[in-house]
Amino acid sequence: MERELAPEIVRVTELAALHSARWMGRAQKEEADRAATEAMREMFDTVLMDGTVVIGEGEMDEAPMLYIGERLGTGVAPELDVAVDPLEGTEVVARGQANAIAVVAVAPKGTLLHAPDMYMDKIAVGPRARGKVHLNRSVAENLKAVAEANEKDISEVVAVILDRPRHEQLIHEVRQAGARIKLIGGGDVAAAINTAFPEGGVDILLGSGGAPEGVLAACALKCLGGDIMGRLLPENDEQRQRCADMGIVDLSHVLMMDELVSGDDAIFSATGVTDGEFLHGVRFLSNSKARTQSIVMRAKTGTVRFIDATHDLKKKAGWDL
Ligand code: FBP
Repeated sequence: MERELAPEIVRVTELAALHSARWMGRAQKEEADRAATEAMREMFDTVLMDGTVVIGEGEMDEAPMLYIGERLGTGVAPELDVAVDPLEGTEVVARGQANAIAVVAVAPKGTLLHAPDMYMDKIAVGPRARGKVHLNRSVAENLKAVAEANEKDISEVVAVILDRPRHEQLIHEVRQAGARIKLIGGGDVAAAINTAFPEGGVDILLGSGGAPEGVLAACALKCLGGDIMGRLLPENDEQRQRCADMGIVDLSHVLMMDELVSGDDAIFSATGVTDGEFLHGVRFLSNSKARTQSIVMRAKTGTVRFIDATHDLKKKAGWDL
């Protein structure tokens, strides 16, 4: 992959964030998602790549754009797998809450897991705890391992968990083990990334969320030197068949980070839509200006860049969508 791709991809997440941020706090999550998706799709036309969506807005018959299998970019090499979540945290934006981001990851063709749209049990940690936790271990064992790796007492460890009824038992086990919990309303990609930043205030992500989001988080954590693994959680025969079609017959199989993103290269970009621990959200300023903050990083080199941009919306290509 060419390193010039990184700033190209940032422009894609910036435009998606700018458009979806207009819907912040309006209780219209579909509109926020549609705005992000249309903007992202438009901007992809300018990116010098021959990309194919492997993680997207749905199957071709259910999503008008950014559907699985859609070709993106100008059509010139390199051939890439593309994973998108134009608005990661639709409900979060609708409610004006924290940590919604616009996300894109690209990687050499054939290296991103084509994760089906179902739940995945996940565990994610930052670099210090990499290789020290495993989904097959108990919650208490994993929390103890993270405490040791991060040189903390277990009472100082914070587990971030989606606030869902399905996590009742997990929450109980974390509290029994003596750790603290940060419950979030949505957005487990940002939560997984937060484990890699000391200022993120969380040590480990636990619980189930979307499988596609698991692949996006894996791209980010591969760049940051963290770790993530997941187990698909099919809920019906159709979903079990989709696992079998992917060659996963043993449903206890734990997908390691290198199965979620095989190969050693990936570029990940996220732009904040609402404020979060590691990114500011979009700020609309006077005189038709807006400010964004993005993170763009590359697995092969480990470079992590934060990009602050001020946009003149009167002059911005793609603003009049
Ligand atoms: P959306 O962007 O599609 O709203 O997803 C947000 C999210 O919170 C993800 O981060 C997470 O993986 C998934 O939804 C969890 O699903 P559910 O809300 O069904 O628990």
